[in-house]
Amino acid sequence: MTIDLAALPHDFLWGTATSAYQIEGAVAEDGRAPSIWDTFSHTPGKIDNNDHGDTACDHYHRWREDIDLMRRLGTNAYRLSVAWPRILPGGDGPVNAKGLAFYDRLIDGLLEAGITPSVTLYHWDLPQALQDRGGWPERATAEHFAAYASVVAERLGDRVTHWATLNEPLCSAWIGHLDGVMAPGWTDLTAAVRASYHLLLAHGLGMRAIKAAVPGAQVGIVNNLSTVHAASDSEEDLAAARRMDGHTNRWWLDPVHGRGFPADMREVYGVELPEQPGDMELIGAPLDWLGLNYYFPQTVAADPSAPAPHVRDVRREGVPRTGMDWEIDASGIEDLLLRLTEEYGPRSIYVTENGSSFPDVVRPDGTIDDPERQDYLAGHLAACASAARKGAPLAGYFAWSLLDNFEWAYGYDKRFGLVHVDYATQVRTIKGSGRRYTEIIAEHGRRAGRREAA
Ligand code: FCB
Repeated sequence: MTIDLAALPHDFLWGTATSAYQIEGAVAEDGRAPSIWDTFSHTPGKIDNNDHGDTACDHYHRWREDIDLMRRLGTNAYRLSVAWPRILPGGDGPVNAKGLAFYDRLIDGLLEAGITPSVTLYHWDLPQALQDRGGWPERATAEHFAAYASVVAERLGDRVTHWATLNEPLCSAWIGHLDGVMAPGWTDLTAAVRASYHLLLAHGLGMRAIKAAVPGAQVGIVNNLSTVHAASDSEEDLAAARRMDGHTNRWWLDPVHGRGFPADMREVYGVELPEQPGDMELIGAPLDWLGLNYYFPQTVAADPSAPAPHVRDVRREGVPRTGMDWEIDASGIEDLLLRLTEEYGPRSIYVTENGSSFPDVVRPDGTIDDPERQDYLAGHLAACASAARKGAPLAGYFAWSLLDNFEWAYGYDKRFGLVHVDYATQVRTIKGSGRRYTEIIAEHGRRAGRREAA
């Protein structure tokens, strides 16, 4: 597998990504209050093995060691999320100084290690107090988000320039309020559409708040997108694929590019949007960068009996899959990078997440060789570089994930880390994929150095 590293800019960000609830633990420490994920994960039957994030990777106490791992991996960037319920335990109201102090120390530690922080403000951990007042289906939640964004941006903005408002609002809205598989676990189309609207409004309000607090801030949004294929050439399935593309991709991309919500999907959902004058301008304000999380392609067929968008997933046989049972298709990330470039003209794009889970085997000597994850990583990086060669303004890649961690509804069984975590001892061990990443980064550095010298 050759990766066209010369296609990537010399100042490319090579990072890893995590999120607060998945790694921090310390859920009741220093004034943190519960989020919807504490509630959801402690509801019996919601999470495999009834796992929860109470301790997770204990990153709240082990962050120094984790920064050291990033340094050993040779990365120059790190995407983290801030836990809203640590900063404003009640969702709004008093600021918790100890919560802010944690991220303060973390940012200083990263900068001392030469690692550029990229801060995401919302990776799904809504304060439970706001859920109790209606959560994302309510407009006030978006307004509280903006206030929270101001508090964090004012505190960290002297050192952090790279900001994302939301991670994958699709999951919060569709998986959390329509499929019911993620917190808060609802299955209500009207609530889901209202949540999607207020999440994007929160993005717009949050972006304005960050820009007001941080001169020169680079603000983006992180979406998980998929390539969508029709199961057959029938008119019904082609239309189903178009609806699924609207549900997964266009609903999230069009509004933040000033194009409003896609008319075809508004019709499919048939839910009135809680729109107020001025909202669409806020939501559509120019982005500094676009974040792409890519994991797998989708194949769908029409299914009129299914809830909106009236499609069902079709399992393609004979194709390679990860331990999540997700299809492996590196061409999807290249296609999406090129599509974003052509259709939306972003200033820059970051792959803010990409990675794979496989059942790792720890050898008697404690080492972990994970050839499948290495192949996934190299294959997807090669596809990214190919897209960059063809003109995608790709400025960085963040591997999901630095550490094995709490994989939401799947608990701890699914491991995405470049670094293995033994949850009983919290011992971290760099896997073969981590070493491979280090080699790739070093090779890119050598080439970039040669280019500069020439
Ligand atoms: C993404 C999430 C991330 C992680 C990966 C596997 O959807 O943003 O937190 O769970 O999937």
